[in-house]
Parts: sequence; C-alpha cells; structure tokens
Amino acid sequence: MDGNRRYAKNAGLPLKEGHRAGAESLAKVLTCCYKLGVKDVTVYAFSIENFNRPQSEIDTIFQLLKSRLAYIAYEDSPVKQFHLSIKIVGNRTLIPSDVLADLEQIEESTAGNTAHNLFIAFPYTSRDDIVHSVTEITHKVKSDELKVSEITAETIENNFYYRGEASKVDILVRTSGHTRLSDYMLWQCHQDSVISYSNTLWPNFKFYHTWWTIFKWSYYKTLILEDAETMQIKRITDKEINERYKEPILSLSHPPFASVTKVT
Ligand code: FPP
Repeated sequence: MDGNRRYAKNAGLPLKEGHRAGAESLAKVLTCCYKLGVKDVTVYAFSIENFNRPQSEIDTIFQLLKSRLAYIAYEDSPVKQFHLSIKIVGNRTLIPSDVLADLEQIEESTAGNTAHNLFIAFPYTSRDDIVHSVTEITHKVKSDELKVSEITAETIENNFYYRGEASKVDILVRTSGHTRLSDYMLWQCHQDSVISYSNTLWPNFKFYHTWWTIFKWSYYKTLILEDAETMQIKRITDKEINERYKEPILSLSHPPFASVTKVT
C-alpha cells in the first residue's frame, strides 16, 4: 500500500489522512478483486522495518488496522458478502498485546469463512518468515516430530506464518513507482509469478487499476497456457489448478473477460 504519505503530502493533509485514505482504498480494491474471482489477497500492512517510523505514526497505523479490520469483519461492509476469512501473517511477538487480542478475535470470528482469504502481512518481512519456518522445523526435528529426510519445500511452506495456505503468488502489485521488493513474499514468488508495477499512489489505486492489473495478467496467462499446450509442456496440472482455484472462473477455461481463442 505504498504512497500513503506522499498522497497526504501532495494534498496538504496530515500524514494520518494518507493512511486513512489508504485503508479506504483497500476496501474498494478487495471488493473488486473478490468480484473478479481472486480467491486470496495478501496486503502488506506493516513491515518489520516500519517500526523505525515515529511512534505517533505507528500508533495511527495500528489503530486504523484495528478499526478497519473490525469494519471489514463485523459491519455490513461490501466485503462481508464474500465470506472472507481474515488471517494475520506476521511476527505476532512484535504486536502489542491489546492490538493482538483484537486481531486474534477478528481471526477467530471469521475462521469459518472459506470462500476467500484476506492475509494481513503484519508485522512482516519475508526473511523473518523464513527464519521462523526454519526455527519451527528445527524444533520439530529436535523433538522427533519430524525427520531431516522428510523435509521438503512443502515442509518449509507449512511452517511459514501462512501455515501452507498461500504457497504461490500469481500477481504481486507494487504501487507508487517503487520497484524494490521490500522483503515481501520472496519464497511465494515463483517461476510463473508476475510483478506488476504501478506509478499510482495507493490511495488513488481504484477499480480501474485493479481491473487492468488482473486483465493484463489473465491475458498473458492465457497466452502462456496456449503456448504450453502447443509445445505440449504441461507446466500446470489440472489437479493443481483445481486444488488452487475451487471457483470455476479461474480454472482451465480462462476468465471470459480476457480469453483468447487464437493467437495470430
Ligand atoms: C505504506 O505507505 C503504508 C503503510 C506502511 C501502512 C499501511 C497501513 C494502513 C493503510 C492501515 C490499514 C490497514 C489494513 C490492512 C486495514 P508509506 O507510508 O510508505 O507511504 P509513502 O510510500 O508515500 O512513503
């Protein structure tokens, strides 16, 4: 959600208004994503690096996070209709206890929803997640719960903060003109992930930008699948797609708004 501070500065507003506008943008983008058939979204709400910011800004972000998630989870918000499960993926030991208690209650109250996931990366860095996974695995090996010979890529994924729920990213969106990766989902970006850069500041990132990002991805995905078919390369198995996308919209029949039938 890059660009909140610059948005506030450009508009001559207090910094917290930038984050507030960013939180509003998030609700709209999520609605758009879920309507277009995206099952899982992760939002980078707070990097461990962000603890270096002034305490007043950290407090503003934490308060916003609590109030916006409560709104998303409990109130009559548009997101509620998508049967959303909200999950925190991040280092919980760094979260103040009052904030953590609220967030865990939100997690618990939405745990039964299975249609869509909203993962909140908070406080998160990918390197911290990798250290966390390795530490968990080491404990399991030491307590004979796991043998070294049994460790696979899946073991590492299952011990991330995601607990194996989001192993592969289709699209990583970076807003506001930044092109660095900021220690975000380094493992989850794989051979078919697409990184989509946008110069738009996050609070200005709206339906059009979301739709266009997904449209472009769908189009190129269609070409890749067709290519794979032509070259008889089976890069993604039907089983894998069906497991990943329970909804028919993103199964092998391409999303109707971006399907191509013939490449010339
Ligand atoms: C990055 O922009 C944004 C953040 C570090 C905080 C984002 C958090 C919220 C909007 C709180 C609400 C969150 C949820 C999940 C409901 P920046 O501050 O780095 O801005 P800049 O790129 O202009 O410097």
